[in-house]
Amino acid sequence: DKPQTVYEAIGGETTIARLVDAFYARVARDTLLRPLFPPSFDEVRLRQFWFLSQLFGGPRLYTEHRGQPMLRMRHLHFPITPAHARAWLACMREAMEEVQLPVPAREAMLQRLTMTAFHMVNTDDESI
Ligand code: HEM
Repeated sequence: DKPQTVYEAIGGETTIARLVDAFYARVARDTLLRPLFPPSFDEVRLRQFWFLSQLFGGPRLYTEHRGQPMLRMRHLHFPITPAHARAWLACMREAMEEVQLPVPAREAMLQRLTMTAFHMVNTDDESI
């Protein structure tokens, strides 16, 4: 048998979908993050569902629909400071609590997402 992926360990598609919903509900209420996003979260929510499914060992949905992730490049339109990365991660941590992700998987995922979030930082101007 193949070793279990994080995706499988947390409950696959259903859990990722609940996580992404809980996450963007928080982003929508976050005064620092909200202004960066368009009025509707529908598209980014779906793309994030594809991305996180793929990142944690599920089906390669993001690449199927969007090609190479190149996430840093895709974020260059938005001025992202270290404070944005921290706010993004706080929303994710709370969303993980809300959907009650199993703690070992949660820690592994947060570690990976912390690296990714700070990789998106493209300005250190904290006045933005
Ligand atoms: C797209 C903000 C971190 C994954 C976006 C969009 C914004 C944004 C504004 C575009 C929304 C739209 O116009 O529809 C941020 C901010 C971050 C951050 C402020 C703070 C560090 C991350 C991280 C990941 C991620 C850590 C991955 C785990 C994505 C994906 C998309 C996206 C997959 C859709 C890209 C596409 O296919 O067009 N993000 N993001 N973001 N973000 Fe982030």
